[in-house]
Amino acid sequence: MAPNILIIGATGAIGKHITQQIVSAKSSFGRLAILTSEKTANTKTSELEKLKGEGIQVFVGDLTVEEDMKKAYQGIDVVVSAVGRGVIETQIPLIKWASEASVSRFFPSEYGTDIEHDSKSPNEKPHQLKLKVRAFAKTINNVKLTYLVTGPYSDMFIAPGKVGSWDVKVREATLLGDGNNRIAFTAMADVGKLVVGCLQHPAESEGVLIVNSFTATPNEILAEIESQTASKWKTTYISLDELKKLEKEMWETGNPTATTATLRRIWTEGGTLYDRPRDNGLIGEPNMKTLAEQIKQVIQKQMKA
Ligand SMILES: NC(=O)c1ccc[n+]([C@@H]2O[C@H](COP(=O)([O-])OP(=O)(O)OC[C@H]3O[C@@H](n4cnc5c(N)ncnc54)[C@H](OP(=O)(O)O)[C@@H]3O)[C@@H](O)[C@H]2O)c1
Repeated sequence: MAPNILIIGATGAIGKHITQQIVSAKSSFGRLAILTSEKTANTKTSELEKLKGEGIQVFVGDLTVEEDMKKAYQGIDVVVSAVGRGVIETQIPLIKWASEASVSRFFPSEYGTDIEHDSKSPNEKPHQLKLKVRAFAKTINNVKLTYLVTGPYSDMFIAPGKVGSWDVKVREATLLGDGNNRIAFTAMADVGKLVVGCLQHPAESEGVLIVNSFTATPNEILAEIESQTASKWKTTYISLDELKKLEKEMWETGNPTATTATLRRIWTEGGTLYDRPRDNGLIGEPNMKTLAEQIKQVIQKQMKA
């Protein structure tokens, strides 16, 4: 039977891509619903009206309130959570309440760095709450869990920033590492396609799935962006040692960008690489963006801004 799906965090940065792709594939699914906060219901009215126009049921409620969630969970088979970093831990009760309702499958909000990549992973600060959610979920027997590990979003990585930067308007980039370190990226729209792939291949997508769109080094990104902008960019490099120093200082001074610095250090160190194939094939090998397509989109977006 086509599953009834509830999306939480549906209008967030990655949630909107996930929701858009689920809506595009709605003939594969049963009832589609989202749960959103009152604040979002009051501020993102046109976005929510558009979703309602597509036949999506919109519940307004508080994801920390059992009564609100149990109401939204009624008749739901699959919950896709895309909640933000600020509320990762609230997924512990969300999974518990799901296990007490009709829900048989839950996608906790991951869509990023592999929090169990290697022996250093358990000590990385940004991983702590997601690790807690995974540990709790292991105690639940009647709900199947899917953790989609996508690595960094290429849309966000190839952008102006404080820790590594790609600025199309001024043709300037700050590259992390020596420029030859490979990073496996996923484009944000592809995250949505990969979630749909999991929903359409339930038996093959239980547990942790390691997926991506493309793999590239900072120097390959630079070559592509220079070629597409037909210009030589001004470039500087932040070595891995300098990046580690910057990361340490950021944590010590309570800089809110510290999480980004840690994640980028992990990616620069090889934390998105594996000696086994990706799991895209298990879920129907959805069509993914190439580096060239992603760069084209990045240039268009930055030039429009
Ligand atoms: N791989 C990457 O490069 C990358 C980059 C960014 C994020 N991520 C991951 O993607 C997942 C979703 O992150 P996001 O950036 O898309 O989320 P987000 O836009 O910050 O938030 C998504 C939704 O979470 C709900 N929420 C409620 N209270 C919140 C709070 N105090 N703080 C944050 N969110 C709150 C909101 O739902 P309502 O609208 O209903 O209020 C919000 O729309 C996370 O697991 C994050 O780690 C990965």
